[in-house]
Amino acid sequence: MAHQSPVMNVMIGAAEKAARNLRRDFGEIENLQVSSKGPGDFVSNADLKAEKTLFEELSRARPGYGFLMEENGLIEGQDKTHRWIIDPLDGTTNFLHGIPHFAISIGLERDGVLVAGLIYNPVTDEVYNAERGTGAYLNNKRIRVSSRTKMSESLFATGIPHQGRSDPEKFVKDMNTLMPKVAGIRRFGSAALDLAYVAAGRLDGYWDRALQPWDMAAGIVIVREAGGMVSDIDLSGKFLDSGNIIAANESMYDALGKCLER
Ligand code: 2AM
Ligand code: CA
Repeated sequence: MAHQSPVMNVMIGAAEKAARNLRRDFGEIENLQVSSKGPGDFVSNADLKAEKTLFEELSRARPGYGFLMEENGLIEGQDKTHRWIIDPLDGTTNFLHGIPHFAISIGLERDGVLVAGLIYNPVTDEVYNAERGTGAYLNNKRIRVSSRTKMSESLFATGIPHQGRSDPEKFVKDMNTLMPKVAGIRRFGSAALDLAYVAAGRLDGYWDRALQPWDMAAGIVIVREAGGMVSDIDLSGKFLDSGNIIAANESMYDALGKCLER
């Protein structure tokens, strides 16, 4: 059974409440009023509603904690030591297209250190969570990163730059380098779930560029607690600022890191 602190119970409760609406909205996807915030960056009513629910629930349970959220940005709290980093709907494009691969992602930072993470796919009902020092879990069962050591047997995920975002040239170079070497490369469309899959050992590694902190925060804690390595693609460790992330088991962290364009 997972070690579950009071704050993790708060995170799970908030995510479950937001998930109920997301599930309902996903079922009525055609009727959603969708507005666009810029190319490739669609924001649905469901997204905003989920963020509001998470904000209200977490604020009620932990008054004063700060927030960094995809839709509403930074909201400073009176408590300067704690901050939630939230993506209410990661995998927005999947959601809008009726593809059941998206997630709520909640990270908690204490004194600038990521200490807890929760990623929840409301459709598959998979809850990935971890708290610093107590391991990573999928639906209350301990998960670990894969033990694969051969690149030729390893499966990776990444994102594909689109509509002027990220770095198409580096993406193409990375593909050319990796294609002949690996068992496969996937593009699932949710950074949070890609990280969760690395933690669960389904993927052996993941990399992406120009992500936002809320895409990564929860997944970072979960991958690390599952025994995986997370860093910047240039191995500087500054991935929360750059958004250029590599996450993998120890072997593939080294092997993949050597193959990617810096
Ligand atoms: P989103 O669904 O919340 O927008 C694949 O596109 C993944 O990358 C998704 O998790 C998406 O989050 C995220 N993402 C964040 N910033 C991105 C960017 N600049 N370009 C492409 N994807 C981005
Ligand atoms: Ca996101």
